[in-house]
Formats: sequence, structure tokens, C-alpha cells
Amino acid sequence: MRVAVVQTDPVFGEIETNVRDAISTMEGVEADLFVLPELFNTGYNFVDVQEADRLSESTSGYTFDLMSTFARRKSCYVAYGFIEKTVRLYNSATLVGPYGMMGLYRKIHLYNKENLFFSPGDLGFPVFNLPIGRIGIMICFDWTFPESARSLALKGAQLIVHPSNLVLPYCPDAMITRSIENRVFTATADRVGTENRGGVSFTFIGNSEIVATNGTVLQRLGSKESGVAVAYIDLQEASKKRLNQYNDLFEGRRPDQYSL
Ligand code: ACM
Repeated sequence: MRVAVVQTDPVFGEIETNVRDAISTMEGVEADLFVLPELFNTGYNFVDVQEADRLSESTSGYTFDLMSTFARRKSCYVAYGFIEKTVRLYNSATLVGPYGMMGLYRKIHLYNKENLFFSPGDLGFPVFNLPIGRIGIMICFDWTFPESARSLALKGAQLIVHPSNLVLPYCPDAMITRSIENRVFTATADRVGTENRGGVSFTFIGNSEIVATNGTVLQRLGSKESGVAVAYIDLQEASKKRLNQYNDLFEGRRPDQYSL
């Protein structure tokens, strides 16, 4: 299958512009699955919870309408981050396909001021069994907790999609380790640019990437420009957890020795 990471440079608060720009970027690219960044339609640096609330949507809101229309028209899947509004606000990612919504994830490990705006995710780490393969989702700072990718891999994920708004420099290299230690493909879609609002500034590092099960970086974008990168991947590779005659990545785990 062909997976694409779409690196964006959103305009804060301009949902229509950001969704339209992402779709026009994806329009010219052939892929089975597109991964967009965390909060790709709103931007990241909210001044207060009222602003986050004003930019939130239900799972069937404006952004979903356009993304599901695109997915139906192009017979593909799209994973994208947005502010999900229920009785609470979540930093969420949806997976849409030709037949509508296929999956939802609510970010579990909130970063920095996100803790002021969002409730922590309550859906666990989900894996979705699609015709293209078993796809798991985590969002940005979840990378810091190896349990995130491990949970997805143990649940059978072959590819982890990772919508992100990275501000720390470590993640692109850390995701190589996440791929190796779980033998899964990972696709991190990040954004670029700086948002300076309410006296707080965040600069996003780009470096969106697609990493193979053996840690090979198949694609990595730069730190300044928006763009798209596509890789052909064989998800069956992620089902091979045996390292040699004596070692299997999952069978070799010793949970009885890990207890505190
Ligand atoms: C982050 O989790 N957006 C840094």
C-alpha cells in the first residue's frame, strides 16, 4: 500500500482555508492512506479554552464532511487531527475512508498547555482493521511514552499513523526506535511554522517521516516547508515478529519480571 504524510503550514483559526489547502495538496498525490498533522485544521496555540471550543467540531462536522467526500471520491483513507467536541473537548484524530468514519482516537498524553483545554483521551489505543491493513493511531506527544506504540503493536497494528505538531527535536529519531522495537511501520505527519499568541510561542519542527519495520527512514521531509512524502510499504513485514530461531519480539516479553 502507499502511505502519504502531508506536512502542512496552517493559518491559525482559519479552518476553511486549512482544510481546502490540505485537500488541494492531496488532490495531486496517489496514495491509499493520507496522514495529516494533529489539529491540522485549526492550528495549535490557543489562548484559552473558549477559543479552543469555538474551533471545535463534532466527529461529523465541517472537516469530516470534506475529508469523507475526498476519501470517497479518491477511494482512499485519511487520518487527520481536530478538536473534537462532545460535552468535553478532546485533541482527537479521525480515520475516514470511502464508506465514512472508520476510527477515532482521543490523545491520551496531553502536552503542555493542552492540559488546560482538552480532556485526556478515554478510548485507549485503538487499532482499526481495514482492507488496506491494521492501522493504529497515536498523536504527537504520545511518542514520549513507549507504552503507546507498544499497546498498538500488541493489539496487532501493522502501521501506526501519528498526526503531530512537534515542538521538541527528539521525535523523528525516537520513532525509528518505536518502529524497531515493535517491528511496525510508523507514519508521522507534522507541521511547520511558528505560532506566537498570547505571549506564548511554539515553533514546529516539520521532519514528517515514514519509517519501516527495521528502522529504515523511507521518507523524511524538511523542517521549514510544507509538502508530501509517499512510500510503498508491505504491511505483511509488520507481522513478522521473529528475529531469529531463538527470539520473537512479542513471545520474548517477560511481563512477570516487569511488575513494580
Ligand atoms: C505535542 O504533543 N503537540 C507536542
